[in-house]
Amino acid sequence: MAKVNDNYLKLPGSYLFSTVARKVREFQEANPDKQVIKLSIGDVTQPLAPAIIESLHKAVDEMGKAETFRGYAPDLGYEFLRKTIAEKDYKPKGCNVSADEIFISDGAKSDSANIQEIFSLDNKIAVGDPVYPVYVDSNVMAGRTGTYDKVKETWSDVIYMPCLAENNFVPEIPKEVPDLIYLCFPNNPTGATIKKAQLQEWVDYANKVGAVIIYDAAYEAYISEADVPHSIYECEGARTCAIELRSFSKNAGFTGVRLGFTVVPKDLMVDGVALHGLWARRHGTKYNGAPYIIQRAGEAVYSDAGQAQLREQVAYYMKNAAYIYNGLKEAGYSVSGGVNAPYVWLRTPGNMTSWEFFDYLLEKANVVGTPGSGFGPSGEHYFRVNAFGSYENTVEAIRRIKAL
Ligand SMILES: Cc1ncc(COP(=O)(O)O)c(C=O)c1O
Repeated sequence: MAKVNDNYLKLPGSYLFSTVARKVREFQEANPDKQVIKLSIGDVTQPLAPAIIESLHKAVDEMGKAETFRGYAPDLGYEFLRKTIAEKDYKPKGCNVSADEIFISDGAKSDSANIQEIFSLDNKIAVGDPVYPVYVDSNVMAGRTGTYDKVKETWSDVIYMPCLAENNFVPEIPKEVPDLIYLCFPNNPTGATIKKAQLQEWVDYANKVGAVIIYDAAYEAYISEADVPHSIYECEGARTCAIELRSFSKNAGFTGVRLGFTVVPKDLMVDGVALHGLWARRHGTKYNGAPYIIQRAGEAVYSDAGQAQLREQVAYYMKNAAYIYNGLKEAGYSVSGGVNAPYVWLRTPGNMTSWEFFDYLLEKANVVGTPGSGFGPSGEHYFRVNAFGSYENTVEAIRRIKAL
């Protein structure tokens, strides 16, 4: 008789954004005349840049001709894209990453969920708290997290590293030694960043204790300050302890197009085994490669025209971020983030819970954000507002919040 993977049954409630979507739907059904502004799920709104569209069209036409048609893509990614990333992304940052250490995928969500598969179930994970929910949930599904405490909303076998105002939302090295450390900077949900010297401490620590850092740099394009690293490979020694996850979603608007990549350096060994080989094996068995058309679109991201257009796109969102940050501050909120990330993180007023503030904002201002508690227990009493809306909607949302 078949049995289910009962680790799935341990997952609490529904995915955060499903609950947000349900509440918004119910509100809209009850209030059809109200114009709701959504600054919740981190989805972009600007259309794809012209250089990317041009490349997509060209690739589509190639697929229509026998001489240029492509079938299955190489499962690790086309050479043209892997080389472009190594040359135009990592080299200018001074990072030693070669094309064959770059694994092309359909995005950082799947990579961040799948990467745990190449590690033993005995490994203990450490995560920032609050955190992008996929890291923990994928480890729950694998059976690595122990039992769930409904009151504390924590897993017994997960090391939580609180990210609070007191530590500028940057986790401190935990007392208990982890095997796998998930770090995400610029951070979703807090919008916080880590300075290069701080990240270097993590790299040194991981090398010392034999831990692996899974570094999610999905938002690196939003970094504006000089001493904030864009890649963990800017740190000395990262090649022997870190895997980096990257996405085309936020820097180039690919949320609906789907493209990302993971870097696994060849020097990264665990128990004498190269993780590069394991990830290549996993990719080869479980993945048939991102579509040719999409990989050509990814290549266009690095063209001169693409880079110029995307700088403008990022600037557009960051103008929103500054507007949100300043507007909320003027309205008396305690805010952070929004400088090197498209997220502003605010402290809820009057000690309201995150969900109470969500309901309050939805009902009174018809604005939707994301309750901080949905990202982990230390997110309670916090709230995330994103900068991915249109400028007009952003201005209107802040006007409404200020009028409360
Ligand atoms: C921290 C972080 N990593 C990964 C992702 C997913 O990126 P992708 O669209 O490439 O799957 C997101 C999306 O919101 C994110 O916030």
